[in-house]
Formats: sequence, C-alpha cells, structure tokens
Amino acid sequence: MKAQFDTYFGSVVLPASSNRLVHQKALERCLERLQNKLPTLGVRNPKIGIDNLTWSYCRPGDWVISFLSGQLWLGLQLTGDSVFLNAARARRSAFRDILRDRRAQNHDLGFQFSLSCVADWRTTGSKEAREMALEAARNLLWRYCQQGKYIQAWNARPGQGEDRVEFVAGRMIADTMQNLALLYWAADETGNPDFSDVANGHAETTAKYLVREDDTSFHTFVFDKVSGRPLRGETHQGYAHDSCWSRGQAWMIHGFAQSALTTRNDAYLDIAKRLAAKAENLMGSSNVPVWDFGVPDSANAPRDSSAGAIMAAGVYIIADLVPDAEAARWKALADRLLQGLLDECDLTKNPQAEGLLAHGAAHVTAGYADTMLPYGDYYFMEALMRSLGHTEFFW
Ligand code: GLY
Repeated sequence: MKAQFDTYFGSVVLPASSNRLVHQKALERCLERLQNKLPTLGVRNPKIGIDNLTWSYCRPGDWVISFLSGQLWLGLQLTGDSVFLNAARARRSAFRDILRDRRAQNHDLGFQFSLSCVADWRTTGSKEAREMALEAARNLLWRYCQQGKYIQAWNARPGQGEDRVEFVAGRMIADTMQNLALLYWAADETGNPDFSDVANGHAETTAKYLVREDDTSFHTFVFDKVSGRPLRGETHQGYAHDSCWSRGQAWMIHGFAQSALTTRNDAYLDIAKRLAAKAENLMGSSNVPVWDFGVPDSANAPRDSSAGAIMAAGVYIIADLVPDAEAARWKALADRLLQGLLDECDLTKNPQAEGLLAHGAAHVTAGYADTMLPYGDYYFMEALMRSLGHTEFFW
C-alpha cells in the first residue's frame, strides 16, 4: 500500500511548501483508515458517528448514502487498488434501489449519483453506471419549478406524522447548489441543453434569493407554490431565519465555485468569492467554522468540521480559477481551513475511530452535534487532493 502511494504522489509535482507535505501525509492516513475499516463497514454506508467513534448507518435512500462511495472512488483513483473498486461497486444496488423508488428521490439525487455512478462511468467507463446517472439526472430535472426557476428541495415527510406541505413544494435550499453538477454532466453527455438550462436557472435563483446583500446566506427560501412568487428566507438547520448556517454557506461556496469551473461563468465565480470572503471574515480567529455564524457566544458554540472541509475544497477551486496573483490569497484561506481540521478534528491518528474527522454538526437544534459525518470525510479528502494539485473529481 505505502509503495503505491509513493508511486502515485511521485507523479505529482509538490510545491516546496511544507503544507503540501503535511497534506500528502494526511491523505495517506485517510486512505489507510478507509482500507482498514472496510471489513467492518461491509456494504453499509455511514450516516453519522456515535459515541465511541464508530458509525451508525444509512437507511435506503438517505441523502448521505454516497459519501463513502465518493471516498472509495477517490481511493481507487489514488492507488489503483482493486479493493476500492470492489467496495464501491458492491454499493451499486443501493443506488439502483433509489431509482426504483420515486418517493426516495429528491434534490439530493446529485450528491447521490455524482459520487457513485458518474464516478464509476468516469473511472471505468461502465455503461450501466452512465445510464443510471442519466436516469437520476432526468428525475432531478422534473423537480424544476418553471414559475419560480428553482429545483424543489424536499418531499413530504410522512414519518413526522403527516405530510408537511411546506416540505412538498415552494422551497429551495442552499444545499442544492451541490446537486447541479449532475445536471451539467448530463448536459455534456447527452448534448441536451435542458439539463444545463435548469442548472443555470436554479443557480441564478439561488444567487438572487439565498445570497443576501451582505454576502451571508439564507438556508432556504420559500415561494408561492402556484405562482412562484418569492415570499421569504427561512432556516431549517440553522440558528435563526436571519442567521447564517455555516454549512449552507459552505454548500454555496463549493457549489458556485464548481459551477464556475464547469461553465466558465465568471458571475458564479464572483459569488463564490464573495461568500468565501464573508465566511473568512465571520470565522474571526477560529480556524474551524462555528456551526452557525449568528449564534450567540460563538466562541463556546459547537464547530462544524464538515463546513470547514466543504469550504476548503471549494476555496481551492476558486484558487484554480483566478489569475496567479490572486490565487495565493485563496490558497491561504483554504490552507487555513485545512489546518484547522488537521489541528482540531483529525481522527486519522486515532486507531479507534472509523471516520476521518471529529466535531461535525449535522443538525444542532435537533441534538446532532460534535460527531463524525461522512460528508465531512469526503470533502476533507477532496480538499487534501485539491491542495496537492489533483483536478479529476466526479463533479
Ligand atoms: N444537506 C443536508 C445537510 O447539509 O445537512
């Protein structure tokens, strides 16, 4: 295993900066952790950490079902080791099940299928994986509300006792920016502009209603579900409607940066930069974002390592898209975010831990804070790789 890492990293020209060497070693530890824990995980997919640094697991169709899969495809790319291929492919049936069940499908199809079937197609050329990803993209397309020009986020939640109408229609959320990559990919694969039109329409509506004038963001925005008339910003996972949930800000930093990378639309890059600069400002002296930038007594509030990892990966994308003279400013911010994770959240040196990062905040107001999160782990690996100069991802 070690020899394969050395061979792989030997093909990347590392800048003579100690940060890169630290990031290379951290990435090696991530891969070792993944490989060591695969026998325990089997075909299960981590949902959220529990007390003794082990995982609890996803139910079918969970929005986080693909984040281990994404790590496995990155592991295969980095090492060429078939153990990663086998473990990733063993998960395909979980994604087939999502396509079979309409009720399991929502705006998260992008997260789910970019990090599984698109990854498989891009890595191995599997035609079945390509067809599955295209089917998911078509299903995501149908969630687009033409009147309001946004992708409807959630479905009814009968598990909460009744169908909650506010979940069914008339709501866009920050997180969906990450799901647009599946649509841009499908547009490229098929030549059908409907996919990119919907992605661009949603991105423009996000910029208009979720990004505030001061460059903070709403988590969600509510529209009249018949006319599409804009009504109000609201939070679901943040502290307050008018606060700034740090993972929402992170989803949009990465999402706009990723959309700029794909479309070369400078307006998206500009929004990503504004959101990132605001997050930097709101972080104060902390290197790991607090779970919500508007929370009182933020120095003592829970951090969200997943927000830090998503932001770091997104800010490295920004650095790749700007002229050299500007890139250093963004790399410094991304490095700072990674350093925060390495100093305060890194579990890769703790052999008991099944995941990579501590101190994630899934949903603080519902009681889920200070835990491992599979999306924090995925973006941690992506950020480390982007720091090392990798450019091939699944979105
Ligand atoms: N996409 C849901 C979350 O960020 O918790």
